[in-house]
Amino acid sequence: MFLEVKNLNVGYGDVQVLWDVSFSVDKGMIVSLVGANGAGKTTLLKTISGLIRPMGGEILFDGKPLTNLSSKEIVGLGIVHVPEGRRLFPDMSVEENLLMGAYRRGKDPKVADDLERVYEIFPRLKERRKQKSGSLSGGEQQMCAMARGLMANPELLLVDEMSLGLAPLIVDDLVDIVKAIHKEGTTVFIVEQDVHLALSNSDYGYVLATGHIMMEGPSKELLNNKQIKEVFLGL
Ligand SMILES: Nc1ncnc2c1ncn2[C@@H]1O[C@H](COP(=O)(O)OP(=O)(O)O)[C@@H](O)[C@H]1O
Ligand SMILES: [Mg+2]
Repeated sequence: MFLEVKNLNVGYGDVQVLWDVSFSVDKGMIVSLVGANGAGKTTLLKTISGLIRPMGGEILFDGKPLTNLSSKEIVGLGIVHVPEGRRLFPDMSVEENLLMGAYRRGKDPKVADDLERVYEIFPRLKERRKQKSGSLSGGEQQMCAMARGLMANPELLLVDEMSLGLAPLIVDDLVDIVKAIHKEGTTVFIVEQDVHLALSNSDYGYVLATGHIMMEGPSKELLNNKQIKEVFLGL
């Protein structure tokens, strides 16, 4: 097991949001976590990346506990979080934003090669490399956020709500990009309100409902699950 989360309890002040959450992500997989708005998905990702301290429980990456590490140290281990809402630097160019993703790597000479490799996955960003990221469309901004994440050389990429607010054709492009990233050897954990999208494009899935893992299984099986069809897919 690659990422292993055990009995995680997380809250804000006295308000508990995640309850005994346990799940794992195997190396080389695309795993999804789906759930409604407010279920606690973003809180979970922020806890994995060290932005929030849990009240209890364990997070292991390659067997190593993460819960006492800083977010910088966690990035250093290869866990990279593409946040909900993209969080780009709008007045900086696309390329400057991408290089920010690699700042931790200092003068690593491989950064220039990685920039070219990232531009191969995101040709649209290459065309717009000199443009301010704030002037991009929503879909392009999402691409830029994901590309910036790749510049940190992730082993595990955590992607929060990549499809939120985007048109279906653009979401299709983003899914292709996730698959290309995965094919190059990165394990991907996608967190989505769009249950159909996430389960149709992952190997294994977890369902989070009001802070509890309600169900898990191979994504294809979850897509055919009666309860999921009724509650999430409106079928
Ligand atoms: N910074 C915060 N302070 C207090 N409560 C928060 C904070 N962020 C999120 N919450 C609450 O935690 C719950 C889970 O939120 P979140 O993790 O953002 O869910 P999701 O990403 O699944 O929509 C919600 O009830 C939300 O209002
Ligand atoms: Mg969220």
